[in-house]
Amino acid sequence: MLCLFTLLAAIAATTVALNPPKSRTTAPAGALIVRADTTTKGEFATLIAAVAALPADSSAQTIFMFAGTYSGQVLVERSGPVTIMGFTTNAGNVSANQVNITASIPVSTAGSGDASGTLRIHTDNVKLYNLNIRNDFGVGSQAIALSNYGNQVGVYACGLYGFQDTLLTQQGVHVYLQGYIQGATDFIFGQRSQAYIEGNTIAISSAGYITADGRSSNDSGIYLMNRNTIVLSPKANSNATKGYYFGRPWRDWARVIYKSTVVIAPINPAVWKVWNASTPNTDHVTYADFNTTGAGFPSTVSRANFSSQLTASQAAAYTITSALGSTWEDWVDQAYLF
Ligand SMILES: *[C@@H]1O[C@H](CO)[C@@H](O)[C@H](O)[C@H]1NC(C)=O
Ligand SMILES: *[C@@H]1O[C@H](CO)[C@@H](O)[C@H](O)[C@H]1NC(C)=O
Ligand SMILES: *[C@@H]1O[C@H](CO)[C@@H](O)[C@H](O)[C@H]1NC(C)=O
Ligand SMILES: *[C@@H]1O[C@H](CO)[C@@H](O)[C@H](O)[C@H]1NC(C)=O
Ligand SMILES: *[C@@H]1O[C@H](CO)[C@@H](O)[C@H](O)[C@H]1NC(C)=O
Ligand SMILES: *[C@@H]1O[C@H](CO)[C@@H](O)[C@H](O)[C@H]1NC(C)=O
Ligand SMILES: *[C@@H]1O[C@H](CO)[C@@H](O)[C@H](O)[C@H]1NC(C)=O
Repeated sequence: MLCLFTLLAAIAATTVALNPPKSRTTAPAGALIVRADTTTKGEFATLIAAVAALPADSSAQTIFMFAGTYSGQVLVERSGPVTIMGFTTNAGNVSANQVNITASIPVSTAGSGDASGTLRIHTDNVKLYNLNIRNDFGVGSQAIALSNYGNQVGVYACGLYGFQDTLLTQQGVHVYLQGYIQGATDFIFGQRSQAYIEGNTIAISSAGYITADGRSSNDSGIYLMNRNTIVLSPKANSNATKGYYFGRPWRDWARVIYKSTVVIAPINPAVWKVWNASTPNTDHVTYADFNTTGAGFPSTVSRANFSSQLTASQAAAYTITSALGSTWEDWVDQAYLF
């Protein structure tokens, strides 16, 4: 009995002690290698070429990318699991990322949000590590950096850069952990995903809305935000200050929970906003926060009347298990959880 107790205590201690590796500077055995300007036989100069070379089967495959900037849209759609990892000497620190994947395609020319995506995930069981994924189009159209249609997709210490609609978390069960997400308008959005979003820096570039959840019925969709920090992005417009909100409902079953957020960038005192005046979409929304702190979140907030502040016991019901289902431990890299 004592023995079992000791063993369980040891397992619990191990779980708490998990951490990302310090660095990833060499390709794992069997990985395809991407290196800008490579002249080495067997290596790929672009991510596009490496993805095209993956076998179209159900085997698990890894791509390792050396430091550099790789331009052009990338679509991942083979059937088997895919891991893409960027060279880094500090795998837990998104600010130290050295791999950039860039494009600047707007929805206005691509025709749809997904089609504008710089990196488009259209398959299940994908892991992304230490990649900066950018849509540099800027102001004037929606323009997606990461478009995620896969199930069981983990995004770890990745930087997502855009302005309007940076991250499309459209369908499937996703985690976004210890990363950086920059934008202004509706920049975490999508319709059916269950997304657990923890430990990220969320950077505001202009007046707008962090989330635009398009949940349109009482399904399992949710964005559960935990322990993220909200800051102004480096070149933020002045109207970002007090001009941004936790979210607005793209559809009227939007469900977004913010737990233990540290708000540095001053937020609008209403915290949440209607979609627009003629189509508020607030009939069935679940918009709530708990334990929000930080100098940008004044004690004078007057939350919009379709939102609420959770009690500790209400907040305790929202966990990674409630958001993602009980099998999350099978696919989430727990080294990136607090
Ligand atoms: C990648 O982008 C970051 C942020 O814009 C930049 O600081 C860095 O120099 C870029 N790295 C490379 C290898 O181009
Ligand atoms: C993360 O990386 C950035 C850029 O290299 C560095 O300035 C910062 O000190 C690092 N933070 C930690 C906690 O290591
Ligand atoms: C915020 O300021 C920028 C730059 O002046 C402007 O383009 C944008 O329309 C403003 N946003 C809002 C919501 O007023
Ligand atoms: C939504 O579905 C959940 C779970 O099936 C149920 O408990 C809840 O009552 C439903 N809510 C509404 C407003 O219908
Ligand atoms: C409140 O949020 C802070 C910052 O994320 C966190 O350190 C603290 O543990 C949270 N407290 C509770 C009771 O959840
Ligand atoms: C309000 O949102 C609805 C639904 O997206 C849209 O059809 C309508 O044009 C919007 N109204 C304004 C004034 O933007
Ligand atoms: C919520 O606030 C809006 C705007 O102030 C108001 O029009 C609406 O009647 C309020 N709804 C409820 C249920 O109090």
